[in-house]
Amino acid sequence: MMRVGLLVSGSGTNLQAILEAAAQGDLNPALPALVISNRPDAPALERARRAGIETLVVDHRPFLRRADFDRALTRALRQHQIDLVALAGFMRIVGPELLSAFPDRVVNIHPSLLPSFPGLHAQRQALLYGAKISGCTVHFVDDGIDSGPIIAQAAVEVQPHDDEAALSARILAQEHLLYPRVLRALAEGRVHRDGRRAWIRP
Ligand code: GRF
Repeated sequence: MMRVGLLVSGSGTNLQAILEAAAQGDLNPALPALVISNRPDAPALERARRAGIETLVVDHRPFLRRADFDRALTRALRQHQIDLVALAGFMRIVGPELLSAFPDRVVNIHPSLLPSFPGLHAQRQALLYGAKISGCTVHFVDDGIDSGPIIAQAAVEVQPHDDEAALSARILAQEHLLYPRVLRALAEGRVHRDGRRAWIRP
């Protein structure tokens, strides 16, 4: 079993998809073991509780330095013997201490086809740019913003009359399929990495 720690800040629909995959036995040998939110009011926490997963709030606000928040997260993950860290709508930057505690073991999902449209409001960025195809990306986290090696992507067509909500919803539906698949592949040791290039073996 590979114990997965999920970091969240918001709604938690990706978390929900991952927990449902786990409940169906489709995530094995990945095991969601802990959900950490930096926001005490994140709806994602309720989703985790309903699924019987242990939850923790590590509020970033009392920490004066980013490095101290990072250390608190790292400690909590270590205490719970987490092997793999999955960011699922986590709206804080993960710092060097956490990354070095989990080398090649921190992944994120982003709602665009990276390297296009990193950062906030990726779906809005794609619409404003006039992109015709967007999608989502699961990637290893490095010290940049949405810049780590890409593990897997799914494409979504942008329709002429899409607004941000419509495009986001269609991308999100793909996220919910892609993320559990990647977590399972990681736990099965099927993600191969050679420098910047990472891929899933069948
Ligand atoms: C998703 O669009 C994800 O790609 C991005 O943040 C959003 C999280 O949504 N990183 P949810 O909390 O999983 O519903």
